Amino acid sequence: MTAQSTYENTRIIDIAPLHSSDDTKRAQVDQAIAQAMEQHGSFVATGFPGAAGFGMQMQRLLSFFTMDEDEKRVCAIKEYVSDHANLYRGFYPLPDKPHWSHNEIFDIGPEPPMTSPDVPGAESFREANVWPNREPVADWRREMHDVFVWQRDLSVVLMASIARGLGLEEEAVAGPARGRNGTYRILHYAPAPEGFELGGYPGREPETIEDGRKLLARTHVDTGILSLLWQDASGGLQMQGPDEVWREVEPLQDGLSVHGADLIKGLTEGILQGTTHRAVGDMGDRCSAGFFLEPDFETPVIAPTGGAPVSYARHLVNEFPDRFEAKNAA
Ligand SMILES: [Fe+2]
Repeated sequence: MTAQSTYENTRIIDIAPLHSSDDTKRAQVDQAIAQAMEQHGSFVATGFPGAAGFGMQMQRLLSFFTMDEDEKRVCAIKEYVSDHANLYRGFYPLPDKPHWSHNEIFDIGPEPPMTSPDVPGAESFREANVWPNREPVADWRREMHDVFVWQRDLSVVLMASIARGLGLEEEAVAGPARGRNGTYRILHYAPAPEGFELGGYPGREPETIEDGRKLLARTHVDTGILSLLWQDASGGLQMQGPDEVWREVEPLQDGLSVHGADLIKGLTEGILQGTTHRAVGDMGDRCSAGFFLEPDFETPVIAPTGGAPVSYARHLVNEFPDRFEAKNAA
């Protein structure tokens, strides 16, 4: 049984005024969002277009994981099914070797696929989505893509709000976020079998936090600009603010947790930075989903470590040289 959390919760902000014509209320929300991002690196948004019934819709989207393994494996990336061409988009089955979390994942990107400058590994940036042969529920594929599109739009609206709230020039912050790129990902954490090494490091025991829950997903900062996360009622998502205090994200079924990814630092002149986060739980079933806002691959970005702007495609290769140089050589 899960121990009762003693962590303070992140704030909940009704962002409906961002989509209204009431400038006073919109300015209040801008201030609340900017303050939450500066102090906690995160907040939970409610009241966005699509919020009503979103928790119910998530249950339909997550029904992908109820399909037979063979049906899901039609979409598996090349790492799991060697004669498949997809390196990145598609299905990541439950790991059968040590890994940093025991989950299965399905992810999609924009349709049509993106273009990219010709850097090592660029073929994976241009990948089309890979869909199962059968829909787990009617209209599942259309709904998955619709959620990708409206969460992308929402994340750009949030970047503009963050800019106004921080007193920065709106287009300097939100402009590089406009475009089409991003990832929508659904995740299912399943109980790990006996002997499974969580953490991905041989011999390392799953980390236990102070209230007794186990680390389900490693402590990390996302790659990209901004992330929107949904989690089922089991919760367990935690955010670490710039004050290094961990806070619990309340699992509101019609809400989305918002936090900064690594490129937000360059876009906000260093005021914000990518938010460290993790998922904890009792090792039972847990589902979550994320939209990850990314610039288009041609868009110039400034790395969190500073330096001259480079294309987002080049930035990814610089950040993950092993992954992209190795794939290019294969
Ligand atoms: Fe993350």
